[in-house]
Amino acid sequence: MCGIVGYVGDNKSVEVLMGGLRRLEYRGYDSAGIAVIDDAGVLNTAKRAGKLAVLAAELEAHPINNGRTGIGHTRWATHGGPTDQNAHPHLGDDGKLALIHNGIIENFSPLKDELLAEGYVFESETDTEVAAVLLGREYRRLGDLGEAFRTVVARLDGAFTLLAVHQDQPGVVVGARRNSPLVIGLGDGENFLGSDVAAFVEYTRRAVAIGQDQIVTITPDLVTVTDFFGAPVEVEEFDIAWDASASEKGGWSSFMAKEISEQPDAVTNTLRGRIHDGQAVVPELEAFGDDVLAGIRRIVIVACGTAAYAGQTAKYAIEKWAQVPVDVELSHEFRYRDPVLTSDTLVISISQSGETMDTLMAVKYAREAGAKAISICNTQGATIPRESDAVIYTHAGPEVAVASTKGFTGQIAALYLFALHLARVRNTMSLEELAAQVVELQAIPEKIATTLLQEDAVRQLAVWMTDSRAVLFLGRHVGFPIALEGALKLKELAYIHAEGFAAGELKHGPIALIEPGQPVFVVVPSPRGSAHLHPKVVSNIQEIRARGARIIAIAEQGDAAVLPFADTVFHIPLAGPLFEPLLAVVPLQMFAIELATAKGLDVDQPRNLAKSVTVE
Ligand code: F6R
Repeated sequence: MCGIVGYVGDNKSVEVLMGGLRRLEYRGYDSAGIAVIDDAGVLNTAKRAGKLAVLAAELEAHPINNGRTGIGHTRWATHGGPTDQNAHPHLGDDGKLALIHNGIIENFSPLKDELLAEGYVFESETDTEVAAVLLGREYRRLGDLGEAFRTVVARLDGAFTLLAVHQDQPGVVVGARRNSPLVIGLGDGENFLGSDVAAFVEYTRRAVAIGQDQIVTITPDLVTVTDFFGAPVEVEEFDIAWDASASEKGGWSSFMAKEISEQPDAVTNTLRGRIHDGQAVVPELEAFGDDVLAGIRRIVIVACGTAAYAGQTAKYAIEKWAQVPVDVELSHEFRYRDPVLTSDTLVISISQSGETMDTLMAVKYAREAGAKAISICNTQGATIPRESDAVIYTHAGPEVAVASTKGFTGQIAALYLFALHLARVRNTMSLEELAAQVVELQAIPEKIATTLLQEDAVRQLAVWMTDSRAVLFLGRHVGFPIALEGALKLKELAYIHAEGFAAGELKHGPIALIEPGQPVFVVVPSPRGSAHLHPKVVSNIQEIRARGARIIAIAEQGDAAVLPFADTVFHIPLAGPLFEPLLAVVPLQMFAIELATAKGLDVDQPRNLAKSVTVE
C-alpha cells in the first residue's frame, strides 16, 4: 500500500524514479509524484492524482530539471482523497525539503495542531504533510537530515516508512521505517531505497532489508543504518533471486494473465530443493528442530483474503497427514479476541507480500504470547518472515497484478510440503504413503498446464456472461475454499456480486437465492477419490437446477455423472482429492480475468484495491 523509491547516484533521477514507480504501481494507484534535487541544488517536484501514466504525461509536457538525488511515491489514499494536493511528496522547510510516506501516522492530529499554533500552514488533508512540516522544522533547528529524522520519528505513532531529501544536502536520501516495508538496493556508485526490491531490480541484484525502527541514510557511496536513537545497526545483504524481466509484462495483455500462466513454474520452483529421495524435506524447518515440530499440539493459520483461502485448503491436508488440529483465522480477527496460545501452538502466517499489516501484527501477537511462528511468504526481505521463527518461501516469482493467482497456488504447494514434512517427523504416515503424496504434488505443474488449455472455452463463457449481476460458487471439502476464492476473484476483478458457499450449507439458507437463470459454479469432487462426497454434490446440483440455476461445473475428466446436469463443464485432470484445489482454481481465475476483460476493466489494478495492505 503506497510504493516508495529513493535514489542517489550518477543516473538521471527522474528516469530511475519513474521506472521504480512503474514496478511499484501495484501497491497503489490513486496518485503519483516525484521530487528531485537538480544539479543546481534546487528541489523540483511533480505530482498528479490518477495513475502513474498521468504523472508521466505531465512530465512529458512539462519536464522538471533532472538531477542525481530524488524520491518517488505512488499512493493508495488513506487520509484525504486522491487529489493533486494530497499526492506525495509533501514539502517542508519552505519548499526545500520533500517527504514521502507509506503507512498511517495515527497521532497526526495533535501534531498538526501544534504546528498550526506555531503558524505553519498546510496544503493537504494528509497525515504525511504533518511529518514533512515537522521534519522541516527540525532540520532548521538541527541542520542535519539524519538528526532531524531521529527527533521526528520519536514523536510519531502508527506505521510509517518515510523518505526525505533536502536541497541543502544533495546526494543524500534519508529513510525511516516502523511497521511498513523498506529495502536498500546496493549499487556501484549509486544506492537505492524501495518499498520492495522491484523498485530497483533493474539496476542491482544486491539488497539489504531494514529492520523495525531503523533509520537509513544513503549517499552514492555509503549506506548507514542506525536505530531510532542513532546507534549503528548490523545489516545483512541478500541477493535478489529474480531479475528485472520477471516483473515485466512481456508479451502478455496483463500481468494477471501472465501470472495465471506462470502457475506451473510457481509450483515447480516452490518444490525445488525441498524433495529428497522421494520425501518432502523442507530445509528451512530443520533449524526449527524435529523435536519441536513433533511436540506441536495445535496449529493456527493466520492470513487474509486469498492467502487465508490457501490456509483453509491446507487445513485438510495438515490434519489428515500430520494429524494436528488446525484453525484458520483471519489475521485481523485473531488478535483482537484474546486467542488461547501456548508454547506448543504453532502459528503459520501466510502472506504473498510478507507485509500485510494485519498478518504482521497477528504474528507479533502470537510470538509475544509464547507461540512459535512460521511464515509462508513470496517476497524476500519482507517484514513478516523477519518477525517469524522460520520462513518457507514460495518461489512463485514477483506477483505484480493486484489479484493473487500464482501466489495462491505457490502457497498451497509450500503448505503441502510443510504438511508432508510434519507428517514424516511425527510418524503419522508411512514413508511409502508420504512418497505417494509427493509424487502427486510433483505431477501438479503439468496438470495445471493442461487445465490452462481451456482458456478459449472459458473466454466464450465469460463473454456470454458479461451482463451477469450475481454469480454463486459452491464447493465441498477442499472445494469449499476454492469456491470462496472463485467468488473473491470475480468480485475484485469484475465488480460482480459473487458469493461462495459450502455445498452442504445450501439447504440451510442460500438456496433461496436460486431463481431461473442464476449462474452457479460448482467445484465437483472426484467420483474416484471422493466417492462418498461426489454423489452428494451431484444431488446439490440437481436441487438447484430444478429451481432454474444455470450450472457451470468444474469436474474431473471423465466424470460422466455430472454431465447431464451441467450447462457447461470445465475439466480438470485426475488428481488425488487433496490436490484438486490446485487445478480447480485455475478455470475460476481464468473466468474472472476474462469476464473483467470483456467488461473493459483494468484487471491488473482493480478499483479501490492495492496489493500490499500495509495499513490496518
Ligand atoms: C486477492 C488478494 C488479497 C490478498 C490479501 C493478503 O486476490 O490478493 O486477498 O491475498 O490481501 O495479501 P498477502 O498475501 O500479501 O498477505
